[in-house]
Amino acid sequence: MLFKNYQYFAYEFPEPQYLGAKYTLLKWLIKYIPPNIHTTIDAFAGSQSVAYLLKQLGFQVFTNDFLQFNHQIGKSLIENKKHFLDKQDLEILFQNSPQKNSFTLIESLYTDLFFEKEQAIFLDNCRANIQFLENDYKKSFAIALINRSLQRKITMGHFGHTQALVYAGDKERVKRNPNLARPIQDIFMDLLPRYNKAIFDNGQENKSFSENILDLLPKILKEQSIDLIYLDPPYCDSHADYQSFYHLAETYTEYWQDKQFINGIKRYEPQKFSGFDKKKDVIQSFHTLFEISQEIPNWLMSYNDRSFPTVQDLTDIIKQYKKVEVVTKTYQNGRGGKGSVAGSQEVLFICNPKSVFNISFQMKNEKESFNHWKNLYETDHLEDFNFNLYALLWLKIKSITRKEILDNFLNSNNFSLKEKGLNQQFEELYGVLSDNLEQNHQKLNDFIRTENQSQETILDTEKLVSELYKLRHFDWGGDYKNQLDKFLVDRYVKVYQNYDVLLSKFDAEINRAVQGYVFCSWYNHWSSILIEHIFKSHSAVLPTVGQIKKVDFFVNEVPFDLKVTYLPANFIEKQRKLKGLKPELTELKQKAKQAQLSFTNHHKADDTYYEIVEKMKDRNDVFCKETLQNIKQIRLDILKDVQKNPKVLIQNLYEEQGELRFDASNRLFLVLVDTEDFDNSWKLKRNMELLRPNIETYLNNFGSKNIADLKITFDYKNKGQFTALSDIIFVTK
Ligand SMILES: C[S@@+](CC[C@H](N)C(=O)[O-])C[C@H]1O[C@@H](n2cnc3c(N)ncnc32)[C@H](O)[C@@H]1O
Repeated sequence: MLFKNYQYFAYEFPEPQYLGAKYTLLKWLIKYIPPNIHTTIDAFAGSQSVAYLLKQLGFQVFTNDFLQFNHQIGKSLIENKKHFLDKQDLEILFQNSPQKNSFTLIESLYTDLFFEKEQAIFLDNCRANIQFLENDYKKSFAIALINRSLQRKITMGHFGHTQALVYAGDKERVKRNPNLARPIQDIFMDLLPRYNKAIFDNGQENKSFSENILDLLPKILKEQSIDLIYLDPPYCDSHADYQSFYHLAETYTEYWQDKQFINGIKRYEPQKFSGFDKKKDVIQSFHTLFEISQEIPNWLMSYNDRSFPTVQDLTDIIKQYKKVEVVTKTYQNGRGGKGSVAGSQEVLFICNPKSVFNISFQMKNEKESFNHWKNLYETDHLEDFNFNLYALLWLKIKSITRKEILDNFLNSNNFSLKEKGLNQQFEELYGVLSDNLEQNHQKLNDFIRTENQSQETILDTEKLVSELYKLRHFDWGGDYKNQLDKFLVDRYVKVYQNYDVLLSKFDAEINRAVQGYVFCSWYNHWSSILIEHIFKSHSAVLPTVGQIKKVDFFVNEVPFDLKVTYLPANFIEKQRKLKGLKPELTELKQKAKQAQLSFTNHHKADDTYYEIVEKMKDRNDVFCKETLQNIKQIRLDILKDVQKNPKVLIQNLYEEQGELRFDASNRLFLVLVDTEDFDNSWKLKRNMELLRPNIETYLNNFGSKNIADLKITFDYKNKGQFTALSDIIFVTK
């Protein structure tokens, strides 16, 4: 089974009656939905049948159709998690409306055109009552269902003809389709149970829109990344004018006050601009759409072989943006409408990134031996790993060189190796895979993504975040720089000869240090996993599933180590000095004296700092307030400067790293700053709602960065000069 998640397939999409709806093709379509998908868009959603399938598959779904009446279906079936229409709602909907006199549009326009006066009055009356329903979901639901009932009543399900009343009087036809002669309310009541049962919550925040996709898509992509876009545009030259076919549904939904109603069918005028329904616009619109969608890795596009441009022409256009494969399905029986004529072909364009190396910089292809890369990696000369496909291959293989993972890779690609030891297998595999470089990168990428997905599903993000919220104070309980055992030995073991004195130190000091160490490390460990999870779920990121030192993941094929950090105190001090200011503590002490605030010079500078700040806050007079505000303002100025010129901070972070943990890997720093209270910045590590959009926006835009700009050179103590690629994502609150 391709999808693990079939739990929502007990819900059923109510059969639509819409030109070009993909309802009957969903089983065929589902085969082409790629794995590792989380976020999706149905860009031309129409009846919402594909959006519903995507919701059933557990994805986050953005759905859109530029016509409002389709958006009402989207709101009620895709976005809506739980609101349905109950008895009380029906009473409101069908009551004699207090607003009836202001709602006469349908009666005046359509009486005796599609239905008799009494039915037109019924429709106006319901429309007047919709506003009294409890919430927007119920309102959308009612509109969608009335529109659907209308389609049922009218021959062929659309309003592009005026035969409905004639057919309703034709006994033979009514025998075949009794709905022609039934009151709309009866049809509505028949449909209602199926619609109510179709509502479910797939655990995602789904959203329905009603805009021209060319306007909407850039806005969505600015906010977040999308893994799959489904495109089902009108098939130009083949029943493409949806506004004429469904004008009544749109008029009922919008209840236009500012339109002209023209010709026999009383279609509204002016129409909305589509860009995809007229020959003169369609080619340019496709180019624009593909251009915007380029950063979305997977596209599926439905089409028909009787449309303009031809399948071949459209393939050629897509090829400028993506790798494309075309599959077809021949219609046996024409169901009428949009191209589904017997003998015509339904076409699906399956589009993926053109190459694994869909990147904005040049890769070198200089082949080097296995040991060459091994040596560079071990001696921290990692700059040669950037921009070289063989070096990247070496790193990717290293990241899967764990017994189980490697076996999986070999089995799934039908490779067999002569060597038995893991290190020897690593070397042998490098030799094998370097022969067909691009194809084997693709194999590794596909494997790593699938492997990552199976690892990621084990993480219950929500539960973990909620556990992290149990930590109220972030206090290491001692200044032991991550080396608790050394701290304990130096501070207690070697200092005290007397057993009882040592014992007495537990309650007062040692317990606090151990507890602080455990809780702070626990918090850092699990929050890092959550943060990495955000990165690893993004389509631009290829994780190192087997965990290797110096590389957490590749972003667009650039290897990076992720470091989550805050604006470091030493950096603030350095910047203050450059501004000709004293260190913060010196300044505070002076001000405290001026304010005649007493304080102790503690063993730990932090404690002294804390005491003065708290006392100043307690005093709360103009002088103390100004002092604290001034210190804060300088920090904010430093932050602002460094956001403009992050290299200064990057340099500092590389040069100030601890000797024991030194390396010169490419680093992506996530710098978290609570601008209201810098000391509370640790809390941002668990604030997924703030972190996720910031990280995703950064990754969405990574493709347009000039990678050469990320180059940084730094000196490290007596080790010499190093070069790396590095960048900062600032997350501020
Ligand atoms: C082929 S239908 C989609 C059918 C749909 N996949 C289904 O299963 O019902 C095309 C849809 O595109 C919508 N449309 C046309 N131009 C659009 C545009 N520029 N932006 C968004 N939607 C548009 C039309 O209203 C129509 O519902």
